[in-house]
Amino acid sequence: MLLRSRITGTGSYAPEKILTNFDLEKKVDTSDEWITERTGIKERRIAKDAETTSDLCLEASKRALQAADMKPGEVELIIVATMSGDMPMPSTASLLQKKLHAKNAAAFDLNAACSGFLYGLSVADNFIKAGTFRKVLLVGAEIMSKFLDWQDRSTCVLFGDGAGAVILEKARGPRGILSTHLFSDGNLWDFICLPGGGSQAPPSAKTIKDKLHFIKMKGNETFKIAVRTLEKLVIDTLRENNLKPSDVALLIPHQANLRIIKATAERLNMPMNKVAVNLDRYGNTSSASIPIALDEVVRSGRIKRDDYILLEAFGAGLTWASALIRW
Ligand code: ACO
Repeated sequence: MLLRSRITGTGSYAPEKILTNFDLEKKVDTSDEWITERTGIKERRIAKDAETTSDLCLEASKRALQAADMKPGEVELIIVATMSGDMPMPSTASLLQKKLHAKNAAAFDLNAACSGFLYGLSVADNFIKAGTFRKVLLVGAEIMSKFLDWQDRSTCVLFGDGAGAVILEKARGPRGILSTHLFSDGNLWDFICLPGGGSQAPPSAKTIKDKLHFIKMKGNETFKIAVRTLEKLVIDTLRENNLKPSDVALLIPHQANLRIIKATAERLNMPMNKVAVNLDRYGNTSSASIPIALDEVVRSGRIKRDDYILLEAFGAGLTWASALIRW
């Protein structure tokens, strides 16, 4: 019997405060019509000033642990996929470990921007298959709102805050993570970036004046590459698993833009009722988007035992990734 990893619990959390497109109309020169037509987003959640990314992780993790019927002390590894952690050092995973009292776990962060959750899923899956760890807590969490230029209408309307978590455990048999596929093209690093605050441009009065601590994105160029890349990615992922698009019960895409999601679904000839969409309510929560969507479909009973689930993401790096799961 093949050794695999299997998701045994999911959880998610989003801050209470809702910011609608109509609220944004009062802040920048935009409209509900433009945002809805170009992105599919209607509203997003925004963290409180005092709320940190590890706080969001904590709530999502508690729910995932409860669903898996696992105590924090049983977790052997915590991975937090994030590009908006509490601080550069220590890792948000370590801060989560403290808040969760998961004292027996190793902990680290992973940054692959919007592809971060699927990168983390691959790392966790391989650690489990190698026998290094048996019980892993993987969280995708972001407070994007604290890294947005609220005067830049081309970015501030797109993103939101939230966290999604999964518990992965060692399993045998046909069900579990079947494959993960990771890619990157660092030549296109400046398509989506947050240029300030690192060793290239350490924080200074000048980096603040030049607005280098905010997310910059070449939206239209990114859009075109995302559509092309994701269409190929989903087809290749199914081919490697000897599956047809019609075998897939549900596509769970990264939630950046409804037009990108629809293009990917069309390439698979997949009706939209087989696609998980929640960006209308959350916007793009980067690494949190897939695990939040996964938690919603699990809790609503939309996926059943033995279903094939296809996950895909595209983001800064540029990075892209996919995973195929038999639930
Ligand atoms: N409200 C009104 N008008 C706007 C807004 C706004 N919020 N933002 C931009 N516009 C204007 C632009 O100024 C431009 O006007 P112009 O034609 O007069 O110059 C016009 O709308 C069209 O702008 P585009 O950028 O060409 O619009 P596009 O249709 O490409 O949509 C968007 C922009 C939504 C950003 C889209 O390109 C997109 O979704 N890109 C991909 C994003 C993505 O997948 N990112 C990866 C994940 S992010 C991560 O990893 C952190």
